[in-house]
Amino acid sequence: MTVLPRVLAGVPATGAASLGDHVAAYGPRPVLDAHARRELVATVEQAGLRGRGGAGFPAAVKMYAVLRSGGEPIVVANGAEGEPASAKDRLLLAAVPHLVLDGAALAAEAIGAREAIVVVPDEDEIIDAVRAAIAERATARIDRVGLQVAAAPAATYLVGQETALIQYLAGGPAVPTASLHRPTERGLRRRPTLVQNVETLAHLALLARHGAGWFRLVGTAEEPGSALVTVSGDVAAPGVYEIALGTSAAAVIASAGGDVRRCRAVLMGGYFGAWIDRRLAAGLAVDDHDLRRHGAMLGTGVMVVLGTEACPVAETSRVVRYLADQSAGQCGPCSNGLPAISDAIDRLAGGIPYQGVGEDLERWCRIVRHRGACRHPDGVATFVSSALSVFAAEFADHARSGRCDACAAPPVLPIPHAVGAR
Ligand SMILES: Cc1cc2nc3c(=O)[nH]c(=O)nc-3n(C[C@H](O)[C@H](O)[C@H](O)COP(=O)(O)O)c2cc1C
Ligand code: SF4
Repeated sequence: MTVLPRVLAGVPATGAASLGDHVAAYGPRPVLDAHARRELVATVEQAGLRGRGGAGFPAAVKMYAVLRSGGEPIVVANGAEGEPASAKDRLLLAAVPHLVLDGAALAAEAIGAREAIVVVPDEDEIIDAVRAAIAERATARIDRVGLQVAAAPAATYLVGQETALIQYLAGGPAVPTASLHRPTERGLRRRPTLVQNVETLAHLALLARHGAGWFRLVGTAEEPGSALVTVSGDVAAPGVYEIALGTSAAAVIASAGGDVRRCRAVLMGGYFGAWIDRRLAAGLAVDDHDLRRHGAMLGTGVMVVLGTEACPVAETSRVVRYLADQSAGQCGPCSNGLPAISDAIDRLAGGIPYQGVGEDLERWCRIVRHRGACRHPDGVATFVSSALSVFAAEFADHARSGRCDACAAPPVLPIPHAVGAR
């Protein structure tokens, strides 16, 4: 299996793949003896697998950290998918739950955990698919670890942040916590906790079958493998695509029926990501090496193509209001900075001219960075700064003359129902 799709190879036309379908598509789950358990972490390291939940952190580094911590570890498979423009984790959980469960069980065995909790959005179709898959596996007795499912509140941006998730699973509120200890040292129930995105675990499940060399057959030397991207906006066929890392953004957008040359800009990486001007996007590769040069990251793999009929100021104002409302308000940048940033952009989007708004916003973005207990304010600042730079003309126009004709266009960037706008 050297070509794509890899993780999406077993996605059925409708519903969830049964255990039989899963084995037919991907092959059986490897059985690990003591030697193979140790080897699996080394294989993940050699493969260069990085997390697909947002930060792109090397999976093996976290696995080694848990192994070093001693004690009785636990695995949390993070499928909360709080990013509104992302659909990849829901697709994996709803369509190929056994692949995620293989990954969770194999990761647990590799680090000596006896338990793995799969966190899913609180949506019936997904909960049912994962529960049914766990029941099938229990009947077939294919796992040595206990697998459980836990529902996280849907349409909530912060719940997927790892400390928020751990606190929520422990019965507390779904807001990030500041702790002296990393989850890999002391997390859920004070045990070393491996929190890994469900897509990361799906790749791990295939790596355990085919090895590091196979994993590296696609992607780049620095960023090997494939990744799931959710393409939406001004494209004919929005959806989740599996791409080799390093594929050109123009080709990914074209495969979704869009044309990067005709759009206004592309949002890369999600609501913590960055807008990229269409001229730059046309020559961009989808990997962190290239994206970082433009202040963006692969993040959750979100790519939103903004067409020329949309108003970037109105789009930015809706997303920033949503993100500001989602903050837990526990730290200064979230209780003071994000509301101020959001109010200023709302003012422009509402047609109230505001001279000097660019300088105010840039200053506030600088102030909120690195000051919160989690990266929420940093993500908002990255999103806003990129909007100010890519849409400088549109922001200046709104600051001078108020609303534009495109302000009334339907929203492109999705905002979950819980807070209104869609
Ligand atoms: C505000 C915020 C929200 C996040 N939401 C998610 C999420 O919904 N799903 C996810 O897998 N990771 C999310 N993350 C990243 C997690 O904290 C964590 O890094 C990730 O689950 C680790 O898995 P990975 O290394 O496999 O990517 C979020 C991070 C932040 C700062
Ligand atoms: S920075 Fe914001 S979102 Fe993060 S913990 Fe503090 S208040 Fe909560």
